[in-house]
Amino acid sequence: MHWLRSAQVHPRLVIRRATSADAEAIARVYVDCWRESYAGLLPADHLESLSYGRFAQQWRYTLSAGGWAFVAEVEGEAVGIGSGGRARDGRLAEGELYVLYVRLAHQGRGIGRALFEACHYRLALSGLRGMVAWTLAAGPGRRFYEHMGGVLAGEKSLEIAGVPLREVAYVWPD
Ligand SMILES: CC(C)(COP(=O)(O)OP(=O)(O)OC[C@H]1O[C@@H](n2cnc3c(N)ncnc32)[C@H](O)[C@@H]1OP(=O)(O)O)[C@@H](O)C(=O)NCCC(=O)NCCS
Repeated sequence: MHWLRSAQVHPRLVIRRATSADAEAIARVYVDCWRESYAGLLPADHLESLSYGRFAQQWRYTLSAGGWAFVAEVEGEAVGIGSGGRARDGRLAEGELYVLYVRLAHQGRGIGRALFEACHYRLALSGLRGMVAWTLAAGPGRRFYEHMGGVLAGEKSLEIAGVPLREVAYVWPD
């Protein structure tokens, strides 16, 4: 695939479309990445309370109800996920990158870029113009989105587990 062009790309990486059979694996990546990425930003007991089973149920529903996701696998193990669809707020762009996570031990090997490009391409194929991604202002994703050419286009407040936070939006116009 053309987006796997970096010399740094993991040599045993496979990016593939998820099916509802992947719901448990996706939920594990999702919850583990939250714990790895947001320790220090969100309360430890909240991160501990995240349930693989509840997220698996949500992903099973999403994937059987027309939603899509890509899974990054290294030697058959899911280590990253990316997902998108129609933007929740269509004022910034029509498409949205909802989720992009790579397990800490596998970061820095081109997996995030490969998932990002796969999602961006999938959104364009759906006919959605432009892509937006929201991320915590103080989180690790922000600099990545800037590196990928995203333009800062919005900011809003939200609360997770009683903690007031800021989210920022990056846009890739088509
Ligand atoms: C952000 C994330 C998806 C990046 O995945 P990754 O596999 O580590 O990224 P890659 O190795 O594919 O890096 C791709 C490019 O981005 C750059 N990059 C990666 N993380 C970066 C960061 N935090 N800041 C600046 N640049 C970054 C790399 O240097 C690389 O550059 P190059 O291809 O031009 O040489 C991953 O670190 C992650 O899941 N973080 C925690 C959760 C998160 O913040 N998710 C996104 C927002 S919700």
